[in-house]
Amino acid sequence: VNGPNLNMLGQREASHYGVKTLQDIEEAVRSRAEELNVEVDFFQSNHEGAIVDYLQASAADASGVVINAGALTHYGLSLRDALVDSRLPVVEVHLSNIHARERFRQRSVIARVAEGQIAGLGWQSYIFGLEYLATRLHESAR
Ligand code: DQA
Repeated sequence: VNGPNLNMLGQREASHYGVKTLQDIEEAVRSRAEELNVEVDFFQSNHEGAIVDYLQASAADASGVVINAGALTHYGLSLRDALVDSRLPVVEVHLSNIHARERFRQRSVIARVAEGQIAGLGWQSYIFGLEYLATRLHESAR
């Protein structure tokens, strides 16, 4: 799940966010998901409510969420609540290292409701988030 402005990846500040587009990242995630034998559904919106709607509609069929909430990370309380209500394991991911940037980016309202956070590893943050959830899922299925 991707929040505001992530549809603009590839054109946003490359020093923070890299050169891959969101579609490039989606392709990389889909190909790793295939190797891991898990299904992924991709969603991006610039609107917090649309992400809340998406989580409400899809939580029942999902086993976990990898989310880059963009700037909603720092203040998106309805998104935070929707993640809690989904009762799914959540991995918070960021392309940039939010802890090494402006003070307002260092606070995440999602961090406390996530199992963990991966930040600063570029597009690979998504892959590591997916790998964690896939392993967790396969372990719990045993
Ligand atoms: C981001 C970091 C946020 O602070 C920013 O608003 C984004 C992207 C990241 O992936 O590094 O949109 O979540």
